Amino acid sequence: MPTPQPAILNRNMGEHQWYVHLSRIDGANLATIKSVVQKLRKDCADKSINLVLGFGPTLLKDLTQDIPTDFQPFETIKSIDGSGREAKGTQEELLFWMNSPHKDQIWKIQWDARQALKAHMKVARETMTFIYGASLDMTGFIDGTGNPDPKERDREVAIVPDGQPGAGGSFINAQRWVHDLEAWEKLPLAEQEGVFGRTKADSTRLDKQPAHSHLSSVELRQGATADASKPKRDEITRRSTPYAFHDGTVGLYFMAFCKSQAPLRERLRAMYGVDGSVRDKLTDFSNPASGSFYFAPSIETLDAALK
Ligand code: HEM
Repeated sequence: MPTPQPAILNRNMGEHQWYVHLSRIDGANLATIKSVVQKLRKDCADKSINLVLGFGPTLLKDLTQDIPTDFQPFETIKSIDGSGREAKGTQEELLFWMNSPHKDQIWKIQWDARQALKAHMKVARETMTFIYGASLDMTGFIDGTGNPDPKERDREVAIVPDGQPGAGGSFINAQRWVHDLEAWEKLPLAEQEGVFGRTKADSTRLDKQPAHSHLSSVELRQGATADASKPKRDEITRRSTPYAFHDGTVGLYFMAFCKSQAPLRERLRAMYGVDGSVRDKLTDFSNPASGSFYFAPSIETLDAALK
């Protein structure tokens, strides 16, 4: 059975996270890219830094024939209610997601990799994030409550099963959401709770979900969305963390894994109301400045592809 990249299933994330997105430039040499990425893997392993490597559709197909089915690039998703809200697509070719308690070590390793890739790949964007309290989003709400049980079900939700193309791998949705925290903080508590569909103090699920609640978009059930009497379907597992930039921009770095890509796309489309649902009210307060889909191949596929 192929082995998933261990950091995907490791809920014990280091407090410092670093996301680096890159794409090839003219004259890029694939052999050099492979050897730099191999060195990055080794450097991270030597320092016990959690590393997830994700590849966009174009780079993945140049590295391996072990391609999962239905792997699409991230296209911008636009709301249709005149609000102008959208989930921006900014697909790149390679993602390093590193996390560790030691920010200095992450910085050095990613710096060395970037320097070695300089004539071959351009860094499109990078974000450093942190863990806020007991898994809080900056809105003050607990993020992660509805995740599958880490021991029992995370693997089943996140990892392409044996025997399928891409087995042992995982689809990633990586987006940088920008919060309007000032507007959010003016919203009365009861309305904030209606936006997420959970209480702020302890993340208790509201019995009655407003049509605009976040859960009404993303809690997929075998019957109607957010109908708690029916079993969940097409679950995903999330590892999002907050960030704060020097210019005052703040928000959530949304990071989610799934064994297929469709459930990631379905939730985004629901949040933006493009298939007839009510737009998620969360998008009145936060929208992504960037968004890419990647695939994180199994260890065996990585070893073969980067040889
Ligand atoms: C600004 C961006 C976002 C924020 C602040 C946010 C925050 C939250 C919060 C507070 C919850 C309730 C507690 C929990 O279960 O974690 C939640 C649930 C959830 N969110 Fe989000 N979220 C964001 C974006 C997204 C996106 C883009 C997706 C998927 C594409 C998503 C998928 C989910 C799922 C699957 C759940 C759990 C639903 C269930 O219980 O079955 N979220 N989110």
